[in-house]
Amino acid sequence: MRDLLTIENLRTHFFAPEGTIKAVDGVSLRVREGETVCIVGESGCGKSITALSVMGLAAGSSGKVVGGRIEFDGRNLLELDKNELRTLRGHEIAMIFQEPMSSLNPVLPVGEQIMEPLIEHLKLGKKAARARAIELIAQVGIARPEQIANAYPHELSGGMLQRIMIAAAISCSPKLLIADEPTTALDVTIQAQILDMLRRFKAESNMSILLITHDLGVVAEMADYVVVMYAGKVVEEGEVTELFSHPKHPYTKGLLRSKPILNHRQDELYAIPGQVPNPLELTVSCYFHDRCGQCMDVCRSREPRLREAGERHRVACWLYEEAVAYV
Ligand SMILES: Nc1ncnc2c1ncn2[C@@H]1O[C@H](COP(=O)(O)OP(=O)(O)OP(=O)(O)O)[C@@H](O)[C@H]1O
Ligand SMILES: [Mg+2]
Repeated sequence: MRDLLTIENLRTHFFAPEGTIKAVDGVSLRVREGETVCIVGESGCGKSITALSVMGLAAGSSGKVVGGRIEFDGRNLLELDKNELRTLRGHEIAMIFQEPMSSLNPVLPVGEQIMEPLIEHLKLGKKAARARAIELIAQVGIARPEQIANAYPHELSGGMLQRIMIAAAISCSPKLLIADEPTTALDVTIQAQILDMLRRFKAESNMSILLITHDLGVVAEMADYVVVMYAGKVVEEGEVTELFSHPKHPYTKGLLRSKPILNHRQDELYAIPGQVPNPLELTVSCYFHDRCGQCMDVCRSREPRLREAGERHRVACWLYEEAVAYV
């Protein structure tokens, strides 16, 4: 399988008055053609900023990509100008944002918002774009698509809006779909329907998906490959079956232990002790050390590097430094 997206040593920082927030600090990952890669990790670990960096949307008044390379289908995205990025966005790479309301225009009927990329990127006429938009609304499982096309975002439920976002995202058959917590705000039935839908589109079009979620149940259902992030860094990655059956990093193990398992009663839900570190107070160390039950001296003063821990499996943890040296 060919690599579609390659991120190498990406560093996206925010320069706040109180100091530098290294939201993404040396992240590397790749998404192959037709593959679903999930990024998991607790809130604030840099998942969204990684995705937004790919879309060219992370840099703003205080944020900046300060290092690394993002290559998509043979092009270095960090070298594209605004117009080239715009052409790519929505056409070859589409994104479903974490907050659907923030990316939909409140004063424009949703149908017109699906029409926009069709007119801009596929150069469809207005009539053809409208017909296609209605078709897409039907495809994402919404009844009465003609009426819904005329509705404004505030008239629709969260589940409907999420479907509309998906319809807009897949309208131009992107090669890569980035979905940032696409189902977090939805109830489990709608969540299952939306995940089903994403799987179907992926199978039909050989689309690749970069899916961001903190829900390991979603990961188990969707991922081919999983990247675990902690405090702006990748701490473990591997194929989903390998990572779920042989997690190595204590953080990954903690995440897996704290996963609520559907249909299983769990009297007490496990929670990883402590909290993610304050990004302004990070020192050279394993950033997980003060929450880790297996913390050693070295973990407090030196940063572990990401190393091979098996076939397509890598981990950044001092527990494995010695063992992996002989692999
Ligand atoms: N505009 C900004 N200015 C300053 N810091 C920011 C900004 N956006 C994000 N950050 C910081 O960057 C870090 C990573 O944020 P990010 O949104 O990527 O987290 P996340 O993993 O997506 O979390 P969540 O699961 O809550 O969505 C956090 O520490 C966050 O506070
Ligand atoms: Mg996020």
